[in-house]
Amino acid sequence: MPKPHAPVPGHTHARALDSDGNPVITTSGLTKVYRSRGREVTALDGVDLHVREGEVYGVIGQSGAGKSSLIRCVNLLERPTSGTVTVAGQDLTALAGRGPRAGRELRQARSRVGMVFQHFNLLSTRTVQDNVELPLEILGTSGKERSRRALELLDLVGLADKAKAFPAQLSGGQKQRVGIARALAGDPKVLLSDEATSALDPETTRSILQLLRDLNRQLGLTVLLITHEMDVVKSICDSAALMERGRIVEHGTVSELLATPGSELAAALFPVSGERTGDDRTVLDVTFHGEAATQPVISQLARTYNVDISILGAAIDTVGGLQIGRMRIELPGRYEDNVVPIGFLRERGLQIDVVGDEGRGPESVLVKEGAK
Ligand SMILES: Nc1ncnc2c1ncn2[C@@H]1O[C@H](COP(=O)(O)OP(=O)(O)OP(=O)(O)O)[C@@H](O)[C@H]1O
Ligand SMILES: [Mg+2]
Repeated sequence: MPKPHAPVPGHTHARALDSDGNPVITTSGLTKVYRSRGREVTALDGVDLHVREGEVYGVIGQSGAGKSSLIRCVNLLERPTSGTVTVAGQDLTALAGRGPRAGRELRQARSRVGMVFQHFNLLSTRTVQDNVELPLEILGTSGKERSRRALELLDLVGLADKAKAFPAQLSGGQKQRVGIARALAGDPKVLLSDEATSALDPETTRSILQLLRDLNRQLGLTVLLITHEMDVVKSICDSAALMERGRIVEHGTVSELLATPGSELAAALFPVSGERTGDDRTVLDVTFHGEAATQPVISQLARTYNVDISILGAAIDTVGGLQIGRMRIELPGRYEDNVVPIGFLRERGLQIDVVGDEGRGPESVLVKEGAK
């Protein structure tokens, strides 16, 4: 698989997905406080998010972390309590109205932001085609143009033959394809997805993710998605953020995250297991990527320091289009006794995470709660 971040030779203005690409979604200082019956819940507590043009960006976090609040604030389905949301250069928070009572400008701006929902939200009394036409009706597109566009979109999502069917006659995956076609009707720059695959079985999930990836590549569509599942991030995201209690606590491109020692997201994306064999042992998670992967560092370590190394677990995987390996090893002696060998491994470009005394890595929380 080609590296998604590699520059295209001869195209100096190729869409850059490195850290200084053009942001198409920006939130700054975004807060959302819900008030009901005298109680206040701070769902978003100062979120600065930057999603670059053309990337698939995953937001992950435990239940109640504020993920849905974030995505609903990005398209102003919820009005933020404070802070700003800019999509494709337009400050949406400056436009008047909220929810269904949005002003004309906000409604138009919102048509440039497609939204896909977990439970599809299709109208059961309308045919598939009429569901896809709905946003175009709201935009005032003529009947003929609406129907041309709807059929084109249904073709794009692989449902050309279901135009006259009703939602109840479709499978979950097909319903979500209709949801995606409807989200694309207003020709959006960005697509937001809140748990679009969590009501689907694993195989259907894969095909929907593939569809999102294809749309991202073919149409240059930027995708901001929320998920509970690490596998989703692993298979289609270029970048990811971890939310906890209304804040983004980690973010970056998948390769940046994997290269960040102690990153909770990286550990959850790429867990490796293995129990320590006794007290008085040091357990290390060694991550190999790039150059370091091809060098015989473990045997060099054993020879140089004359230590016996046990391998407790190992895995090789492709994450964000990047081949990486991770190995959990055990050295005799406590951490203080192994400072020099650990330094040796780090000097050779390996990423080393020291696994805590409980025998669990930094990944434990997310892996238990999030990834399957
Ligand atoms: N309309 C609302 N009124 C009051 N509180 C709300 C409302 N919507 C969300 N909350 C609260 O805000 C916090 C964040 O909720 P949110 O739905 O954004 O979380 P989430 O990360 O999407 O969770 P999940 O993974 O379960 O979908 C929670 O404490 C929730 O109870
Ligand atoms: Mg949610």
